[in-house]
Amino acid sequence: MTPHRTGPQPSPARRRALPALAALTLALAIGAPAHAQQKVKVGLMLPYTGTFAQLGTAITNGFKLAIEENGGKVAGREIEYATLDDESDPAKAADNANRIVNRDKVDVLVGTVHSGVQAGMVKIARETGVLHIIPNAGLDAATGPLCAPNIFRTSFANGQTAYPMGKVLAERGVKNVVTLTWKYAAGDESVAGFKDAFTKGGGRIVKDLTLPFPNVEFQPLLTEIAALKPDAVYVFFAGGGAAKFLKDYQAAGLKGKIPLYGSGFLTDGVLEAVGDAAEGIETTLHYGDAIETPRNRAFRAAYMKAYKIEPDVYAVQGYDAGLLFIAGMNAVGGDVAKKKEMIAAMEKTQIDSPRGKWTMSKAHNPVQDMYLRKVAGKQNRVTGVAAPALDYPPADRCKMGG
Ligand code: PHB
Repeated sequence: MTPHRTGPQPSPARRRALPALAALTLALAIGAPAHAQQKVKVGLMLPYTGTFAQLGTAITNGFKLAIEENGGKVAGREIEYATLDDESDPAKAADNANRIVNRDKVDVLVGTVHSGVQAGMVKIARETGVLHIIPNAGLDAATGPLCAPNIFRTSFANGQTAYPMGKVLAERGVKNVVTLTWKYAAGDESVAGFKDAFTKGGGRIVKDLTLPFPNVEFQPLLTEIAALKPDAVYVFFAGGGAAKFLKDYQAAGLKGKIPLYGSGFLTDGVLEAVGDAAEGIETTLHYGDAIETPRNRAFRAAYMKAYKIEPDVYAVQGYDAGLLFIAGMNAVGGDVAKKKEMIAAMEKTQIDSPRGKWTMSKAHNPVQDMYLRKVAGKQNRVTGVAAPALDYPPADRCKMGG
């Protein structure tokens, strides 16, 4: 898919050069720095089609809400967005990222959702040095062995959302678990994080089941689970696929018979679509709809007002990406050329998020509370903190600049 601007239409080089020249002349005349007159360019490379389409839209909405609440500008500069649908297709990822960085010349690259696509974006971010904010994809390596000074994440690492669920089940004395996920980095890393805590705590994995992303032919796998009769099932699914899985699990007669657990993506953003198929399901995640803080209530009201839809974890991650960018820009008076200073400020920022306050690990991944949640009606209610201020996988796997 071709990138397209949502701001002014792309213009021939000459037409582009004239306003820039005029702005520069004016800036020099009034003594303001030249960058202050130019729009700052934000590249949004996200899925706008396919099983993760709704996630990409929520992230976009969240990011734009943070900017709107900041007066529609960043450090006094107006914003121009360049958006690109990455289709959650890893094969196109590096080319797409290259195009949005080198052709659209964005000042910051925001994206994406899918860990396989993220691998391509991280490659381009490392090669070009473009400032890069990851608002979802949990690819562990992005803030592990592939970390870099210009790469930040405002969401989670895949293992981080799953480890607490393994810990909770082990503490409850659950013994035999079957895992099920799409076979790709996010699923593999989610299951690995779950197993790490669960087996350390005395649990046993009966069998690991997988299907290719983004397939939703769950029937044969549900038949196998019924035959294996484990004490519980742990899954990683998200978006449209999660909604279908919840409905199929119920239709197969497994709901209420074999308890189903997951990282919270299983039940986030899908509750309107699944009726009572998710009722009572427990998950772990860094957000919950019903976090009773003034910050979360204000965010939810503002998001609802702007978009006429309830926000979810993806909206929060996009919003926090906006807050992080604003913090960096404010520290350098909007001069993105001062990248070192900007990065230093972003590293130190404490984000006052709807999820609760969080800080950056040395690897540029959030250190954050992981909540235990339970679905009640149309909400993921927080019932406790499963792992406070969790830094996982540990940030020391990242050698910054190495
Ligand atoms: C990922 O691919 O990293 C991913 C996708 C969707 C989620 C969470 C993680 O909800």
